[in-house]
Amino acid sequence: MSKIRAAITSVGGYVPEYRLTNKVLETMVDTNDEWILSRTGIKERRILKGEGLGTSDMAVEAVNELLKKRGISAHEIDLLICCTVTPDLVFPATANIITDKIGAKNAFGFDLMAACSGFLYGVTTASKYIESGACKKVVVVGADKMSSIVDYEDRQTCIIFGDGCGAVLLEPTEEDLGVMDTIMKSDGSGRVHLHQKAGGSVKPASHATIDAKEHFVYQEGQAVFKFAVTNMADVSAEIMERNNLTSDDIRFLVPHQANKRIIDATARRMGVGEDKVMLNIEKYGNTTSGTIPLCLWEWEKQLKKGDNLILSAFGGGFTWGSIYLKWAYDSK
Ligand code: UT7
Repeated sequence: MSKIRAAITSVGGYVPEYRLTNKVLETMVDTNDEWILSRTGIKERRILKGEGLGTSDMAVEAVNELLKKRGISAHEIDLLICCTVTPDLVFPATANIITDKIGAKNAFGFDLMAACSGFLYGVTTASKYIESGACKKVVVVGADKMSSIVDYEDRQTCIIFGDGCGAVLLEPTEEDLGVMDTIMKSDGSGRVHLHQKAGGSVKPASHATIDAKEHFVYQEGQAVFKFAVTNMADVSAEIMERNNLTSDDIRFLVPHQANKRIIDATARRMGVGEDKVMLNIEKYGNTTSGTIPLCLWEWEKQLKKGDNLILSAFGGGFTWGSIYLKWAYDSK
């Protein structure tokens, strides 16, 4: 019997309508369009506006789109994994809220937190459920409403992050397609450089933590940049080497969109040119778990069955990793 692999069979995405441009940020903090564009590659990011709207509301749009494209109902989903650092509530899991809102009555679900590498960890986990035969239809959501934890008085972080969501459906295939290899890594000692100080069990939210702005993202940009640039490039090269792939074999690098300079360094290390790099950071900024599935969503029509993709990310934790994926369908 041939090996069962997990293949992506549908993609959905959602970005909120409101565009927070560099020009508008210039009126909020001491920054300028030229600095942001040259240091990060970002021109604007989307922000989810509206009372009572959260991460699950973006996910509902993305998942409903992928179900419609695949022509299946929510009842057919076995498992939904929601990768996020901005859950609707501390508990229960946002996956439970999404499955309730879309009417996925037969699914179980859980949240997975690996910051910007969340989607890669999610696809890796989902692929094991499929390969083992435990599940037939698994949805992986990468969604973050970063505007809910960003301090719009901190010019180091508010220029980077945006809101958005992408989602994929994974199903079994006996063809030589789908998730071919994964490398996931983490180093918890990196947490000092990127975290949220309060709101967890060590320091529950209080008036004092709010006053000290400890419910916002804390990032030491330069330190994170240094680790990101090396590790994302290294892990991408490692997965190519161990699968005997050369740059000619790669159709696209699908990188986490944190900073264009990190993406450029990864592409250089892999030996792939700009034409083979999915890049939408200028439009959406860093949507954390959302960046990679949003790229797949935007580039879906250009992808052909058998195309070799390398998905790579680095993020808070630290977490990082790479997935070698053979695209499983021609988009209509
Ligand atoms: O996605 C998860 C992981 N996150 C990342 O991968 C993010 C990694 N880090 C980065 O992308 C970059 O470090 C940043 C974009 C956050 C910052 O860029 P940088 O090139 O590392 O800037 P820097 O922190 O070294 O600051 C350079 C200068 C400083 O001024 P002085 O000390 O040289 O006078 C900063 O105060 O730029 C200043 N600066 C700014 N100037 C204008 C910092 N932020 C801004 C700003 N506008 N928004």
